[in-house]
Amino acid sequence: MFHSAGILLLGVGAAVVSASQRLRSSAFGVPGIDASFDYVVVGGGTAGLTIAARLAETASVAVIEAGGFYQMDNGNLSVVPRNSLVQGVISNAEAFPPQPLVDWGLVSEPQPGAGNLRYHYAQGKTLGGSSALNTMGFHRGPKGAYERWAELVGDQSFTWDNLLPFFKKSCNLTPPDLEKRQAANATPVYDPRAFDNALGGPLQVSWANWVDPTVIWIAKALEQIGLPISPTGFNSGIITGYSGWGTSTIDPTHATRSSSQTSFLEKALDETEIIVYPNTQGMKVLFDSSKKATGVSVSTAGLEYTISATKEVIVSAGVFHSPQLLMVSGKSSGLDPPEGRIAHFELGIGPQDTLQSNGITVVSDLPGVGQNLWDPIFMLVTNQVNTPSGPSILMDPATSGPALADYLDNASGPYSSAGGHFSFEKIPDSMRNFTSSTASALAEFPADWPEIEYDIAPFPGPDNAVIGGIGATLTTLFSRGSVSIASSSMATQPLIDLGWLSNPADVEILVAAFKRCRQLWNTDAANSIKVGPELVPGATVQTDEEIATYIRSNLYQIFHASATCAMGKSSDPMAVLDSGARVYGVQGLRVVDASSFPFAIPGHPQASVYMLAEKIADAIKKGN
Ligand SMILES: Cc1cc2nc3c(=O)[nH]c(=O)nc-3n(C[C@H](O)[C@H](O)[C@H](O)COP(=O)(O)OP(=O)(O)OC[C@H]3O[C@@H](n4cnc5c(N)ncnc54)[C@H](O)[C@@H]3O)c2cc1C
Ligand SMILES: *[C@@H]1O[C@H](CO)[C@@H](O)[C@H](O)[C@H]1NC(C)=O
Ligand SMILES: *[C@@H]1O[C@H](CO)[C@@H](O)[C@H](O)[C@H]1NC(C)=O
Ligand SMILES: *[C@@H]1O[C@H](CO)[C@@H](O)[C@H](O)[C@H]1NC(C)=O
Repeated sequence: MFHSAGILLLGVGAAVVSASQRLRSSAFGVPGIDASFDYVVVGGGTAGLTIAARLAETASVAVIEAGGFYQMDNGNLSVVPRNSLVQGVISNAEAFPPQPLVDWGLVSEPQPGAGNLRYHYAQGKTLGGSSALNTMGFHRGPKGAYERWAELVGDQSFTWDNLLPFFKKSCNLTPPDLEKRQAANATPVYDPRAFDNALGGPLQVSWANWVDPTVIWIAKALEQIGLPISPTGFNSGIITGYSGWGTSTIDPTHATRSSSQTSFLEKALDETEIIVYPNTQGMKVLFDSSKKATGVSVSTAGLEYTISATKEVIVSAGVFHSPQLLMVSGKSSGLDPPEGRIAHFELGIGPQDTLQSNGITVVSDLPGVGQNLWDPIFMLVTNQVNTPSGPSILMDPATSGPALADYLDNASGPYSSAGGHFSFEKIPDSMRNFTSSTASALAEFPADWPEIEYDIAPFPGPDNAVIGGIGATLTTLFSRGSVSIASSSMATQPLIDLGWLSNPADVEILVAAFKRCRQLWNTDAANSIKVGPELVPGATVQTDEEIATYIRSNLYQIFHASATCAMGKSSDPMAVLDSGARVYGVQGLRVVDASSFPFAIPGHPQASVYMLAEKIADAIKKGN
């Protein structure tokens, strides 16, 4: 009773104690007790904790998060940069190694374009969301991508110049520590004006304190095929045609992961009266008779109760669960509301046919919900190399001990790094052997939007040999997948069709990218470290047909799925959100996360997810 009264007081905005006096334990909601807040955020992930922390500066806010604290639930696998690359949870095999405390364990539908296999798709289920699982690469997209966003949503506030303040607001940049890096051939070049630490952004952005020697060599190869080091770095809106040493979301003090939990949530716990419900799943958004969202029905270990929102509900459940939550919200739980609870209406939002076949009442027939899934994919070409590298150093007992000491004593050495090299290009003219339909589809993209990103990484081989991998990711892609529902409950996993290679243009582009990867392996730089013949796929794969066959059976996601609740103009029948991230057809409901993007931003998306959460928080505070 005591707790309940305290929470309700917060709900009407009356501050009981200042946040600085508050007990840390007072920041957590008590399961089973209904409570009310100005704003309820469903999903304490990358966007969710960012927007919740900002709103909590001036209002009462509850965060509903299905997971707990990854530092406890996944040990140092989620904290140590190097470990993010080797954690089993990122396997895409259908029989993936499960880690139910931090990963949703989602598995796709069979993919006809990729061996008809089902693929495991890791997604953070923890405070921090996928920012707690990702491999920490941090950069912003090209200016043209945001111009396109502004065009698609009919709102000039999405141009690069207008977004830059929100990009800057979220983060704090630490310049490279050249002494710790000890890598004269991997000195970062960047424009410090892309950041503004005076704004006090809590997300830590830095350059890794160690560079893998194998990656340094392959980086030289990228320069030799025509991708010079970027003069501005990858946070100034110019990325295409360049390579270089990029930033990571690593807190350089101890070389630990900086996630939305260690940054935004920590700050909000100290400075605001934010209330967090960990291990609690949002089951349905609730509405009143005027189609205004009034709260969320939640479940903590099966205990169901209601968290009400007097102002707005913000869904930040990620690219797969946000559309699912919109769709299933229209299904009655079948239970009569306990006495004293506010009556509510079940209103499903999404494609009418899907909802009706699951017995869901449709409030807003938005055919775009769950559609338009962009999932950038990649493939690899590998060779054995003679350079040392992270895996070989950490597997050799003579060097692994000192590497651990370097990390624990000095926040440096192999454990302190999760990579940190970027490169992007349009396929060069000499290799654009595209059909006319593919060529004209590609021509629709902005001039500075890259077609391919190269990712370079070492892998452990037999007898502690080092394998070098050059991966090519499609950053301009035409295949679209979808998210649908298998039942009317959030307790059932959503149906995920990744759409991999469903559009033949993507095969053509990847075949060209594959040939570029071989060119990379045939540069002087790569030749000087290569040992023996190409390992994967090997010399038997030569014709376009053979290359395409190899690609179809060796595809990987890079975990940048986006755009399943896409923003768009009200005249666009597939738009789910307006440019303020408000769901069309209802009131008091926004979706703010990677699902809100109109497309996958080329390159790594997390910087843009933080930016979007900052932008929408600012709009809400200004009454928009
Ligand atoms: C393995 C991996 C590697 C990646 N590497 C990079 C990288 O190096 N650089 C980069 O820029 N991007 C990377 N990404 C992508 C990037 O991390 C994501 O795009 C971004 O974090 C998505 O943020 P989000 O807010 O949309 O979703 P998330 O951060 O995933 O947050 C969604 C949250 O909602 C919670 N949730 C879901 N449903 C419910 C519910 N019903 N009730 C309550 N809570 C719920 C989830 O548990 C989760 O905490 C990677 C992603 C992964 C998975
Ligand atoms: C991670 O934790 C394990 C114990 O679970 C420990 O053996 C290992 O040394 C730790 N790694 C680092 C880099 O701290
Ligand atoms: C840590 O750095 C200091 C100063 O550069 C150096 O003297 C020391 O040997 C380093 N420790 C380890 C374990 O590398
Ligand atoms: C160009 O594409 C066609 C059709 O895919 C293919 O047969 C041909 O080998 C390609 N030519 C080159 C130079 O790659």
